[in-house]
Amino acid sequence: MIAVCPDAARFGDVVEIAYDDVGSGTPVVLLHGFPHNRSLWAPQTNALLSLARCITPDLRGFGGTPALPPYEMDRYADDVASLLDALGVGRAVIGGVSMGGYVAFAFWRRHRERVRALVLAGTRAGADDEAGRARRRELIAVARAGGGAAVAERMIVGMVGKRTRERCPALVEAVHHMLASVPTEGAIGALEAMIARPDSTPLLGDIDVPTLVVVGEDDVLIPVAESEAMHAAIRGSRLEVIARAGHLASFERPAAFNQLLGEFVLSLDFD
Ligand code: MLT
Repeated sequence: MIAVCPDAARFGDVVEIAYDDVGSGTPVVLLHGFPHNRSLWAPQTNALLSLARCITPDLRGFGGTPALPPYEMDRYADDVASLLDALGVGRAVIGGVSMGGYVAFAFWRRHRERVRALVLAGTRAGADDEAGRARRRELIAVARAGGGAAVAERMIVGMVGKRTRERCPALVEAVHHMLASVPTEGAIGALEAMIARPDSTPLLGDIDVPTLVVVGEDDVLIPVAESEAMHAAIRGSRLEVIARAGHLASFERPAAFNQLLGEFVLSLDFD
């Protein structure tokens, strides 16, 4: 589906946001990472439809949402708020994987009154260090020269856990296909946005909503230690490590991830 929403970044303009809205119950927004699109969440939306209303947008420049500068974590977060307005949703569980987690932090910073709970999957609170920024600049050059296919070649190894790569070539192929389909402008915009994103570590102590931190045991892009640090800093948060999964634990081991997410969403009815 496509929602036409006001563009908070350009007063008087609109942004078209492609999204899926599946199921009924507690609204749960699931934000994909880089360089993904909302199809990443198909294993969740299908499994959870009887207990949650999963809203999965394509961030601007990814999937079916047109590329439209400026690209910033704050803009992605404001787009999500505009989409919720368009859907008549006030508060929602806000979940994100990796870059989607960076957007979830921006959403918390700018729209915290709309956050019922947080799900932080395979992500980190800190900003990039200089070496990380240099790697992103190099990837921008790769994207300019070779588009999504070249980005996918660079990223596929870290994206999926080693044991998943060994056991499930078809799943790796599906992830590769998703990465390769990223529009070049959206990929470059997101890389620039990640370079510029602020450190969200100071926010962690202020988070006062139920928070599920979840990570794949074999994640090499954003290792388990980052999730342990977020869990230690967010009061009352829950940390779950999914065995034998890598960076995309929700896609690699959907049954394990869905069990955790489903239980978490149901528990919100009782707090
Ligand atoms: C992602 O999966 O969103 C990216 O790996 C995040 C990042 O590069 O920091």
